[in-house]
Amino acid sequence: MESNRLHFLITAGGTREYIDPVRFITNASSGKMGFALAASAVKTGHKATLITTIKNPQFKIKNSKLKIVEVESAEQMFKAVKEHFRKCNCLIMAAAVSDYTPAEKYKIKIKKSNKNLVIKLKPTADILKWAGKNKKKNQIVVGFALEDKNLRKNADRKLKDKNLDMIIANTPAAIGSEKSTVYIKKRDKNWLILKDLDKAVIAESIIKSSILNLQF
Ligand code: CTP
Repeated sequence: MESNRLHFLITAGGTREYIDPVRFITNASSGKMGFALAASAVKTGHKATLITTIKNPQFKIKNSKLKIVEVESAEQMFKAVKEHFRKCNCLIMAAAVSDYTPAEKYKIKIKKSNKNLVIKLKPTADILKWAGKNKKKNQIVVGFALEDKNLRKNADRKLKDKNLDMIIANTPAAIGSEKSTVYIKKRDKNWLILKDLDKAVIAESIIKSSILNLQF
């Protein structure tokens, strides 16, 4: 079994983009899907490294095959992914990475005034796109797509543009919920729809499907 053990690199949670030492921009991602994926990977005997912004004990997974790396910002997540990517067979980017971060971070807490406050944002690096570009033959890269309209068309474009092996598309209703409906697509394959299922069940299906891609 040891030699068949795969290494999954999984990201979870919404990133925190600090404006000043106490305030940040984030999103409603709970990290549930990322944790469910890591739990499923180790439960099936594989190794997982989970890069997460969520430190909530309700998600704690006790398994010696799981390594947890805690990060906060998109920049820290990118650094951690770069550090671990080479050693993994499969990267699954389940994290809700912020597309923007403050162009400048205030070193001290911003004081209130009566004037409007304008915060300039700059784009972050697309971690998934970097991985799609830098993957080796024995590696696969799986992404998520959060879409409120034209779900399949937009997700299919992300699958190709980011050079992914598989994409899992969902709608904003999935954020923070226990159950979810996902649309899964591999390169040159048809859409698979998993309707209103527990995130643990969806995670199992994604892990199984990724393993199949790694075994031919
Ligand atoms: N992602 C990433 N790095 C970013 C932004 C997103 O790696 N800076 C990853 C997410 O983890 C997810 C995928 O890209 O797996 C798609 O994220 P999504 O927010 O749906 O799409 P974007 O590429 O950010 O495009 P848009 O927000 O315009 O839909």
